[in-house]
Amino acid sequence: MPLASFPVSRPRRLRVFEEMRGLVRETRVTMEDLILPLFVEEEIDAAQPISSMPGVSRIPEKKLAKEIKAIAADGVKAVMLFGVSHHKDADGSDSWKPDGLLSRMVKRAKDAAPDLVVIADVCFCEYTDHGHCGVIGKGGVDNDKTLVNLARQSVCAVRAGADIVAPSSMMDGQVKAIRQGLDEEGLTDAPIMAYSTKFASSFYGPFRAAAGCGLKGDRKAYQMDPMNGREAIRESLLDEFEGADFLMVKPGLPYLDVLARLRERTLLPLVTYQVSGEYAMIKFAAEAGALDEKRVVRETLGAFKRAGADLILTYFARDVAREGF
Ligand code: PBG
Repeated sequence: MPLASFPVSRPRRLRVFEEMRGLVRETRVTMEDLILPLFVEEEIDAAQPISSMPGVSRIPEKKLAKEIKAIAADGVKAVMLFGVSHHKDADGSDSWKPDGLLSRMVKRAKDAAPDLVVIADVCFCEYTDHGHCGVIGKGGVDNDKTLVNLARQSVCAVRAGADIVAPSSMMDGQVKAIRQGLDEEGLTDAPIMAYSTKFASSFYGPFRAAAGCGLKGDRKAYQMDPMNGREAIRESLLDEFEGADFLMVKPGLPYLDVLARLRERTLLPLVTYQVSGEYAMIKFAAEAGALDEKRVVRETLGAFKRAGADLILTYFARDVAREGF
């Protein structure tokens, strides 16, 4: 690569004023890049603020339509729904009932704002009384029994109107099982956004409080070891072979290396999830006066795109929609 040295090369020439910097800016974030995760709780009357995620509340199911309309009016283009269930059991069976919370919240959201892309998180930890992401068997979560239920839950979500299903339970073969289950029901047009590389991360702490998940123990037998980079690529490529329409790396900021490596290996749209703990770090640091929230948020979103993400799941999506970039 020909590279003239100083004083011929002066990179500062391109940084003199904002319009010049704008011309040479390599990465831009738009509202089309962002997905807002939402927590929807049944059988409550008032929004429940989540203390570990300042600014985020569980939305009462009965107020979801109104809230969704307001979110869409603010300029959010896509949401990911998480149910906070009051009907938990060993298998999480409420999640695949046609009149269960998952089905109802998807229907309400889609009816309220037909142009908003509604993504259903597909997992069991919000619906099981033990808090694990599937059916418990002798050696922990039973992979293959859980696959059957994941396919049922996905069919239920798409029938209710979900535009995309996003399996997050990290069972082996989940994308294949869901694709087969959907196709058998004629739901061949429903895309799968696979949480393809999901780490057993300590950054999910606030989410578990938000989603009302009473997990004892951990998810290390199904979510990935944070120390593994090669395996991270393998996990995502397996999901691509199984028919995933999107791949994801989760969490975001601590795993930018994985995101960038995966970008080199796949042609699929790539998603990253700025998770609850990342949100909390920024919020509490800003509250303490240590960081400028607005600027730090934009810097992190830009970093995800620079590293290779097409889409970003972020609890800041509505703030960004309101305030602009
Ligand atoms: C459930 C799920 C989790 C998150 C998204 N889906 C939690 C977990 O795996 O324990 C975390 C999201 C966040 O922390 O913001 N499978």
